[in-house]
Amino acid sequence: MLILVWGCLAAKGQKTLKDALKGKFHIGVAMNGQQISERDTANVNIIKRNFDAIVAENCMKSMFLQPREGEFNFAEADKFVEFGERNGKWITGHCLTWHSQLPRWFFTDENGETVTADVLKARMKSHISTVVGHFKGKVKGWDVVNEAIMEDGSYRKSKFYEILGEEFIPLAFQYAHEADPDVELYYNDYNEWYPGKCAAIVKLIKTLRDRGLRIDAVGMQGHLGMDGPSIAEYEKAIQTYINAGVNVMVTEFDLSILPSPRRGIGAEISTNIEYQKEFNPYTEGVPDAAMQAWTNRMLDLFKLFLKYKEITRITMWGVSDGSSWKNNFPVRGRTDYPLLFDRNYQAKPVVEDIIKLANKRN
Ligand code: XIL
Repeated sequence: MLILVWGCLAAKGQKTLKDALKGKFHIGVAMNGQQISERDTANVNIIKRNFDAIVAENCMKSMFLQPREGEFNFAEADKFVEFGERNGKWITGHCLTWHSQLPRWFFTDENGETVTADVLKARMKSHISTVVGHFKGKVKGWDVVNEAIMEDGSYRKSKFYEILGEEFIPLAFQYAHEADPDVELYYNDYNEWYPGKCAAIVKLIKTLRDRGLRIDAVGMQGHLGMDGPSIAEYEKAIQTYINAGVNVMVTEFDLSILPSPRRGIGAEISTNIEYQKEFNPYTEGVPDAAMQAWTNRMLDLFKLFLKYKEITRITMWGVSDGSSWKNNFPVRGRTDYPLLFDRNYQAKPVVEDIIKLANKRN
């Protein structure tokens, strides 16, 4: 009887993404404020049915968690975690150490001067231990450091780097591990398929491991476009990280269908390219050929992800196209189609393709 019911559901194509991908990797999604409060019921229903892992799109960033020194605000983040626990989702935390969306006080003292190395270490320690400690046992993995390395392999000249040098990264990993020895720890970044960046991250993994520090995975954000990287370039980077001894997670996946103002633009959130009409061609819908090319590339990427057992999570950066950050990045006010569900909250045809693909690999 049970088999019969299951058979009928599968025949109707009602097996959802998370059911099909079970045992392969976690299939996750980023949740925004409207979804965390469950006001956006259409997207919340999609999340419940299709994804088995969640991350907060914004509310766990330092400017929201510690807007003023010593004043932590966990209200929204707690709601997010409660949602995850209630619905049996695997919860990751994003992010502990990042130059963007950071409160203004973080690098300056009461006179407006840049803080000393010792003060910054103390602030990092306090932020990381408080946050990781607060969610201990609930959050399963943390993006400990986000976007610290440039495409050419040099370190980003952020305030963290200016004040502490390369050392700020091992310190962040150390503080996170001390606060919750069981939680997984990740280095997260965009454009990690650039050979220079990839080599620098491998070196970082070695440094952390040589010092006895924990790092479980490289998080490849995966804000991709139609113009590159090629599947081969992306695979090469994945293999390099796996060979360095860590797992790989695609942590912020979206595939923009829009013309990219330039190749490999990345995801530095302060980038803001001036609007031009030709950057926004699909306001009335996407022509079949363009849609097919998008579907093919999305499917090729999922084929790649299914090849490696060390790929343990793929997280979409948003539920459905209408609420994707890509509508406003890197150009404000465009109509993009980067996610697996459309503006009418319907699964795109590629979802069925991914489900079939996953079933074949069983
Ligand atoms: C983005 C969010 O999606 C936006 O809502 C917010 O305004 C800016 O940040 N890399 C990251 C994410 O690690 O945190 C960023 O998220 C996208 C780029």
